[in-house]
Amino acid sequence: MTERKDDRLWGGRFDRPPNEEFDAFQRSFAFDRRLLPYELAVDRAWAKALQGVGIFTETEVRQTLGALVKIAERAKSDPDWIDRFGAEAEDVHHFVEKALVEELGPLGWKLHTGRSRNELVATDFRLFVVDAAAETRAALIALMKAFVAQAKANLKIPMAGMTHMQHAQPILLSHFLMAHAEAFARDLTRLHSAAASADACPMGSGALAGCSFAIDRDAIAHELGFSRVTANSLDAVGDRDFALDYLFALSGIATHLSRLAEDFVLFASQEFSYVVLPDEYSTGSSLMPQKKNPDAWELLRGKTGRVTAALFSLFTTMKGLPSSYQRDLQEDKEALFAAHDQLVSMVHVAAGAVSAMRFNESKLAAAASNPALLSTEAADYLVKKGIPFRQAHDLVGKLLREAERQAKPWTQLSLEDFQKISPAFDIDVASALQLAAALQSKSVPGGTAENSVRAAISQLEQKLKSLENKP
Ligand code: ARG
Repeated sequence: MTERKDDRLWGGRFDRPPNEEFDAFQRSFAFDRRLLPYELAVDRAWAKALQGVGIFTETEVRQTLGALVKIAERAKSDPDWIDRFGAEAEDVHHFVEKALVEELGPLGWKLHTGRSRNELVATDFRLFVVDAAAETRAALIALMKAFVAQAKANLKIPMAGMTHMQHAQPILLSHFLMAHAEAFARDLTRLHSAAASADACPMGSGALAGCSFAIDRDAIAHELGFSRVTANSLDAVGDRDFALDYLFALSGIATHLSRLAEDFVLFASQEFSYVVLPDEYSTGSSLMPQKKNPDAWELLRGKTGRVTAALFSLFTTMKGLPSSYQRDLQEDKEALFAAHDQLVSMVHVAAGAVSAMRFNESKLAAAASNPALLSTEAADYLVKKGIPFRQAHDLVGKLLREAERQAKPWTQLSLEDFQKISPAFDIDVASALQLAAALQSKSVPGGTAENSVRAAISQLEQKLKSLENKP
């Protein structure tokens, strides 16, 4: 038989064509065409596997591989062809089969021997996620480098560290910047584990039960760059954990970007004026001539919802699914593609905006010199003189009240005033209650003392360097 009544992949047992609206509803080519390069790579590996079990002759495999190369080249050089030729395709798998038949005639119908779109789509999508994670990783590394460069350029600027949005203790601006870089370093780990979870080849799983031809699964996996094969055919066609893992990693990055954005939106407000917004990453008002708005950061914060929404969208799709492949799984791709595209551009914009950010040193330093920020230092001073911390805390509280009564900053009370509250205060108290001393005392690893920040910077730089050398 060299004729088929239509070119659908499954038309034989149907008498009537699908309802037009339903047909448009069920097609996925409009978005899964993005998987075409992966589909073609899987097809090449599958053609060789079929030769290995005697389904393809040497000539047939040569012709099939030649046609696959031609299709790949045409897709690259003539994207309009994909639109035209793909107009009738149900999905990317159908598209390639149609193109093969156009090239090869009935031989094009042979490649689908022993395999199912269920395993194909899972394999293509895993390959996509591995590449996507690499792209996100590269973007994230550039963002982290932007933080490191800013931390180095602003190493010694003090600022008022806050908890509950209240002045708490002095820190270095570089420490604040590195805090964000560290959060993104954790995201790199999550990206890595998402890629590892995608790194298993389902080919050979069939529709659900496995393949009835003794194809070499390891060889297919190896050719496609997978380090292992999936362990259970039923699980392999219905598993999208790797996509959830990747969306979770993206959601983590987006959430970190959103928190960063929140910091910078606040810091750009007139009340803070800690940062000078770069023109390149701001916009104005159509009505108020004076305005320069932190739109880059607001949009980064705002777009985060799309990324986390994709995670919840796929979780919700997965929740009610029985074992093996269900058509619901087709809903995985649009959400993940959109989240990936969105997130990569978010990270690019964030990296540019971080690099362009200028800091208002005098405003930051003025806030850091708020005497209230040194209260904990006074309690620590008393602890060093042998007073239990809780008592020291109370005594400093009294000192602050006394300063309030005298209407002056508490650091300017006289030594007598200090000693009235506790005789443990001595002449050296003045030098202990200095901004520089407070910063310097936080010299534990991970603390805000300049040396600790320098060490953190060089550790992160080393990590980035070693990551860059890895493929
Ligand atoms: N377009 C489908 C998807 O994205 C491909 C697999 C179709 N399988 C099927 N049995 N209809 O999931």
